[in-house]
Amino acid sequence: MDYDRYDRVRAVQWRGDHLRLLDQRLLPQEERWIDCRDAAAVTQAIRDLAVRGAPAIGIAAAWGVVLAAQQGAPLDAALAQLRAARPTAVNLMWALDRMKARIAAGADAPALEREAQAIQDEDLAANRHMGELGAALIASGSGVLTHCNTGSLATAGFGTALGVIRAGVAQGRIANVFAGETRPWQQGARLTMYELVRDGIPARLIADSAAAHLMKSGAVQWVIVGADRIAANGDTANKIGTYQLAIAAKHHGVKFMVAAPSSTVDMATASGEAIEIELRDPAELLGIGGRRVVVEGAEAWNPVFDVTPASLIDAIVTERGVIERPDEASMRALFGA
Ligand code: MRU
Repeated sequence: MDYDRYDRVRAVQWRGDHLRLLDQRLLPQEERWIDCRDAAAVTQAIRDLAVRGAPAIGIAAAWGVVLAAQQGAPLDAALAQLRAARPTAVNLMWALDRMKARIAAGADAPALEREAQAIQDEDLAANRHMGELGAALIASGSGVLTHCNTGSLATAGFGTALGVIRAGVAQGRIANVFAGETRPWQQGARLTMYELVRDGIPARLIADSAAAHLMKSGAVQWVIVGADRIAANGDTANKIGTYQLAIAAKHHGVKFMVAAPSSTVDMATASGEAIEIELRDPAELLGIGGRRVVVEGAEAWNPVFDVTPASLIDAIVTERGVIERPDEASMRALFGA
């Protein structure tokens, strides 16, 4: 397929001695770039969601290690600081473990730069392959609903779930695209719609609370989401609200697909029970776009991920292949120990 038509945003750009990030807190109103010149700045950008999305934060962290190496900064401290930036997406730990292994093997700054570039390049290639694999599961003329942002902004490019949607639209399999707004941070409303409009892919935004009603209408045949961590039994952590979409999908006979690269698979975590769910500042929920909308004195609980049990998932699509109705045996068959 013509990937270039669909793949124009590059939110994570290495510039030789600094990392340039498209500030996702400001999109779509403003396209402002941030230049990170050390590992601390990259850590802060990950923590503050200037860069977000599981693969993208892993890639950014790898470049953070390169910056530390170029500056002769203590690498153990840089690795530890970056690792602690966010807890749920395992791509962050996976990328840092790759960099750590290269450091242990004696890699110098140029060698670490090559490793970070490989992590970024492999992610793009994986997404393109997953797009084809995932789209092949979708019958011609289908409607799909996605959640959060899993596109070029969240990855090295093309996207995971949004990559499947791009491929499905290009192949004429997907006729209707719906995106949930994804409260509280509005990744769907602000970021997914931004990407789809730029691509010229017709899509409609729905309120998160409209999802079950949409499914009941018969307009969607698949829910397609990304992942932040897939446990050894197929349980999948993703953006808050994914679990309730899976429950509603099951009730309405709508199929449920998770698209994620193998860097999101964590075979060392037995099940979703053991996945740490990030709790963020209640202020992100008590306001919209930084403007407080809830009465002063009110409190909030703000978990930003949830776990969808494998039993609610019809297909996990990775660049290594597709697992239908995932369980521990099928996960081990594809991903080993
Ligand atoms: O809090 P975020 O915006 O980093 O959460 C992102 C998600 O939950 C995505 O669905 C997931 O990382 C997959 S991105 C390809």
